[in-house]
Amino acid sequence: LFSADGAGANPLAIPKLDQGIVEQGERVFRLSISAGQKEFAPGVASPTIGVNAPYLGPTLEMRRGERVRLHVDNGLDEGATVHWHGFELPAAADGGPHQLIRPGARWSPSFEVRQRASLYWYHSHLHRGTGPQVYAGLAAPIYVRDDEEEALDLPSEYGVDDIPLIVQDRLLDSSGRIHYPQNMHAQMMGVRGDRIYVNGTQNAVFDARTGQLRLRILNGSNARFYDFSLSGGQTMELIASDGGLLDRPHAVRSLRLAPGERAQILVDLSEGRPLSLLATSPDNSMGMMGNGGGMMGGGMMGRRRDDARTDEPFRILDIRPSGSSPRRNLPPQLAALPALDPSLAVRTRRFVLDMGMMGGGMSINGASMDMNVINERVPVGQWEIWEIANASMMAHPFHIHNVQFRVIDRDGHAPPPLETGFKDTVIVNPREQVRVLLRFEEHSDPDTPYMYHCHILEHEDAGMMGQFVVVNS
Ligand code: C2O
Ligand code: CU
Repeated sequence: LFSADGAGANPLAIPKLDQGIVEQGERVFRLSISAGQKEFAPGVASPTIGVNAPYLGPTLEMRRGERVRLHVDNGLDEGATVHWHGFELPAAADGGPHQLIRPGARWSPSFEVRQRASLYWYHSHLHRGTGPQVYAGLAAPIYVRDDEEEALDLPSEYGVDDIPLIVQDRLLDSSGRIHYPQNMHAQMMGVRGDRIYVNGTQNAVFDARTGQLRLRILNGSNARFYDFSLSGGQTMELIASDGGLLDRPHAVRSLRLAPGERAQILVDLSEGRPLSLLATSPDNSMGMMGNGGGMMGGGMMGRRRDDARTDEPFRILDIRPSGSSPRRNLPPQLAALPALDPSLAVRTRRFVLDMGMMGGGMSINGASMDMNVINERVPVGQWEIWEIANASMMAHPFHIHNVQFRVIDRDGHAPPPLETGFKDTVIVNPREQVRVLLRFEEHSDPDTPYMYHCHILEHEDAGMMGQFVVVNS
């Protein structure tokens, strides 16, 4: 399980940084999606999809307040889409299932960067085909920078002390090629692998040249949740959630991220000792199925490699400092977040996530995704509470496009540190209800929908997704 067969220790791949080119007041990026090849097991090439690269793609760096334009060329022989996850932008620029780029075609959305500085990402959002395209590699980071964050003097030298970590699991077949299982079990539980890659590197090692590292972790897996920690029980300083800096750093020993979620941590290396970023993988397999005794777990369908989960921490990344150095102090205050005031809300919308038995019936409020149905019409500029309930026996990460929201509570309880800041994806545990406060500040367009959905990609592809439009109030 999560073993390293012969792979040794490999230098961590770091996605190339792409700052685009400023032309006529816009920062312009050229992204070309194409088929590629990559070795997931040494010596065996697997077919992949990448953006300006054989697998994954460059980190796009943007600044808050500027206009960007992205020329996206689809060099695949199938349709693709590219969604800017976490961004507030016009619906036609969102890159959801309605912005299909046909083979050989170019799509050139343009928008103003409104987000706070943070780690965002771009990935395929192909209708009923997101899971396989992301799995093949159509996903990469976006860095948004801004003045507020730069004033803090946090580690921010890309690839040196500020490192993106895209964490993904992959399943290999007996020949060593990556395999995307299509059986009912995988569709139901989500596709999970038995090897963990960081930026495409298995058994990754990073040689640190500084006494403090900023790790920006993206759970880019299709379905697997991770609990991250540091070796030796060392604490990490949690500084940011999906939508940017928290109000203050939180010293934490463990950090759970579901697919789509991000977090930023600072790791202290001042003592000069090697350290590992570890993870365990919590059970998210409907209880009765995960423990070997259930109908689909150990019984009828046999024990499955893709169910791999463990309470034993496995190593995600080994960090080797070059020596000891003075300890860097953290600013006690990171950001001034607006007070969370649920009484601002003028209405509450309720979303119930559910899944039927045996692979069918992925739904929200009883309906499966239909591209011709607008499920919600949301007036621009009005505060709302979205109440997300989970009627199923698996946890689902619920993602809402075009907004950074605040978590009010989980079953009436105050949220954990990661959820005290801005979020665009939030875990909803079985039988739990999470309330979030949000407002769509602009971009009303009655004709083009945005999505809300489960970010377990096989659930999304099977219809645990709905559409909303932002309309004039
Ligand atoms: Cu990251 Cu609608 O997706
Ligand atoms: Cu789900």
